[in-house]
Amino acid sequence: MKSGKEKENPIFSEYKLSGKVAKNRLVAQAMEINSATAGGGVGPEIIERYQQLSRGGWGIVFVEAISITDEYLARKNGLVINKKNLDGFKRLVDDFKKIDDKSLLMFQITHSGRKSGDFSNRIKAYDDDEEIPVVSESGLSEIRDLFMESAELAQKAGADGVDIKACHGYLLGEFFRPLNRRTDGYGGTVEDRGRLLASIISSIKDKLPDFIVGTRISLYEGIRGGCGTNGPDEVIEDLRDMLKVLSGIADAGVDFFNVSAGIPTITPNLTRPSEDSIFNLYHHFRYAKSVKDAFPDVATIGSAYSVGRGNAIEFATENVGKGYTDFAGFGRQNLADPLFPKKLMDAPHSKDSVNYFLLCGGCSGLLRKQKKVYCIKYGKKGTNNN
Ligand SMILES: Cc1cc2nc3c(=O)[nH]c(=O)nc-3n(C[C@H](O)[C@H](O)[C@H](O)COP(=O)(O)O)c2cc1C
Repeated sequence: MKSGKEKENPIFSEYKLSGKVAKNRLVAQAMEINSATAGGGVGPEIIERYQQLSRGGWGIVFVEAISITDEYLARKNGLVINKKNLDGFKRLVDDFKKIDDKSLLMFQITHSGRKSGDFSNRIKAYDDDEEIPVVSESGLSEIRDLFMESAELAQKAGADGVDIKACHGYLLGEFFRPLNRRTDGYGGTVEDRGRLLASIISSIKDKLPDFIVGTRISLYEGIRGGCGTNGPDEVIEDLRDMLKVLSGIADAGVDFFNVSAGIPTITPNLTRPSEDSIFNLYHHFRYAKSVKDAFPDVATIGSAYSVGRGNAIEFATENVGKGYTDFAGFGRQNLADPLFPKKLMDAPHSKDSVNYFLLCGGCSGLLRKQKKVYCIKYGKKGTNNN
């Protein structure tokens, strides 16, 4: 039973999102566990992980990066959404919703682009020094169709929505960069750099108006000419350019911006702050606030709260309470303790039962080595069942 004080805590309040309701403001961010069956299907470890997150009482749970194609893969055992794998995804949703049908479940759908592994094909958004082919205009229309089909499959599987992955250096996010000088309407100006994602979002919203459609972005990537700089030869953070790119995406009807930062293979401490870069968490707070200030009508989800450990809930309470973000997103904390929100609600004054993320980098190391991912401190090896 929650006390009056806990009931008033803004992080335990509901939020209306495109006709549906998130029961609280705590979000389990996408965390790849690299445990799909052959062909990218949903296997028992994946089912078990999302059942456990469903028991955890999160307002929103994002299912880890699911590729829209098996031709460009970042993980050897990553999930792939297609007709063949649909039954597995249906089972994932059914088993999740059987436990808690009030927790929103969304699929993160992605094209890995140049971040695909050396065991897979690679493609990039714009011309530069890397010896990787640039995606053609006709290739773009195939990619747009694949995102549309994947969203339809996600809806058929019973998901509440999709988080279109345009962060962390994956294909869609490359288009936003000032470095993208394409001349075919998909590069150059801020409008043209946002056009591909905006067109994907508006076609999904047109066809599936009741389906939640959001996107995860890296507001500042920390590379020269990258997202969050003001020109192809600038490295200093200046968010004005990126906020203009996002305004075309907001106009396309996006329901939420899931705000992240960095490119894990290049600026890892920006994406996932570690022991010696905890300060980057405050930059994440500022990134979410900048997006919320610019687009007050679009829901905002912040990232990287795990690093706050024992103080994370106070940070979330403050940021949601002050209107700096609508949701607080936890990545590594949801691997360390999938039951985190439930434990806080059941025993709000005793945080002792929570397994706090240890800043150890163990899960990132496993992912880098293309191994199955679990919390090396608290996870039961291979099961992700804490
Ligand atoms: C093992 C691992 C897997 C991840 N998988 C994804 C993913 O599938 N999609 C995504 O957008 N981010 C992914 N991330 C990034 C996290 O969602 C999150 O942004 C990052 O860990 C920082 O937040 P935190 O401090 O709360 O962990 C992953 C991170 C790790 C360590």
